[in-house]
Amino acid sequence: MAKTEKVVLAYSGGLDTSVAVKWLIEKGYEVICYMADVGQGADTEKSRRRALEIGASKCIVEDLRKEFVTEYAFAALKAGTLYQGKYNLATALSRPVIADAMLDAAKKEKADYVAHGCTGKGNDQVRFEVTFRIKAPGVKVLAPVREWELGTREEEVAYAKKHGIPVDQTRKKIYSVDRNLWGTSVEGGRLEDPWCEAPADTYITVAQTGKAPAKAEYVRVTFKKGVPVAVNGRKYGPVQLVRRLNRIGGKHGVGRVDMIEDRLVGIKSREIYEAPASEILYAAHTAIEELVLDRETRRYKKGVSERYSEIVYYGLWFTPLKKALDAFVDKTQENVSGEVKLKLYKGKVAVTGRKSPHSRYKIELATYGKGDIFDQSLARGFIDLWAMPYRR
Ligand code: ARG
Repeated sequence: MAKTEKVVLAYSGGLDTSVAVKWLIEKGYEVICYMADVGQGADTEKSRRRALEIGASKCIVEDLRKEFVTEYAFAALKAGTLYQGKYNLATALSRPVIADAMLDAAKKEKADYVAHGCTGKGNDQVRFEVTFRIKAPGVKVLAPVREWELGTREEEVAYAKKHGIPVDQTRKKIYSVDRNLWGTSVEGGRLEDPWCEAPADTYITVAQTGKAPAKAEYVRVTFKKGVPVAVNGRKYGPVQLVRRLNRIGGKHGVGRVDMIEDRLVGIKSREIYEAPASEILYAAHTAIEELVLDRETRRYKKGVSERYSEIVYYGLWFTPLKKALDAFVDKTQENVSGEVKLKLYKGKVAVTGRKSPHSRYKIELATYGKGDIFDQSLARGFIDLWAMPYRR
């Protein structure tokens, strides 16, 4: 008899991956579940027990939160990157960190295969598998959800019931929700109609504007070389800092995005995102860069930010270009230290003040009041030369 082949499956405890455990077992594999904690706030212990009940031989749970925040989310923040100028890439950033850690687990377990529960229509399959190919070129990949005969959600539920897999009666059934510390993605259900206003039950970590407090709240964020290190003057580790700002921002209705997104696989999809901490941090980070970066670096970096977003979105995290852009970004962050003051009110974040020891703002040049040392007589010659190429 041939030996049973081992699969390490990226497992979340949701319907797709729970059914995938059973499906793989039925196909004759030994299944080891791999659960990464990236701050999804789910009950990992419950999911772990479920995996074992379904028949997994093991369920590994690993806390990747710190690595995820410092090496992925904060790298994106430093780069100022937003896909289509809106999406902070929370889901996209989580895939390479999970895939990479999974490969380590697969190696330790001497597994023959790695597997994920992504569909064939999304970006996540690409992000997982590109990481697998780059980091472990020889590894064999299974994608049950892409391959199985369960065409609809109803068929999946029926399969689950038939095999005694518990199905949660939650909103996750209506929407496809992917959550981590850096943000929450919501898609499907009524959101598939681009004209349909996002229903109240799509608000997961962020308060609806109408329910946000009637009183504004100020928050101060301190940066050191582009990385947030303190809130309201109090130092926090990366995970705690993001959690703290998620709470404050969420309460004030900050960080919702409603957009039509261009997926890598060529389709457009309607997406709702929630990322309160990220929205506050992006606003603050931009504000301090405005203060400390010279004009040309700031402008050039915008192009880098856009390119960076595509790299992350397209699953190309572990590539030479990404590394090279990180080197550029890190160089630009050397002076991005200081403090920003922001006001949160009814879904809006407004920067109200910024300061830095590396500020390039010079009051003696900017002022229209006393103490002005700007030599206005220079302006005329400057303008003559500036216009020269265009004169006839
Ligand atoms: N469209 C987003 C992205 O490609 C979010 C994907 C959400 N994933 C999910 N399994 N619900 O990054």
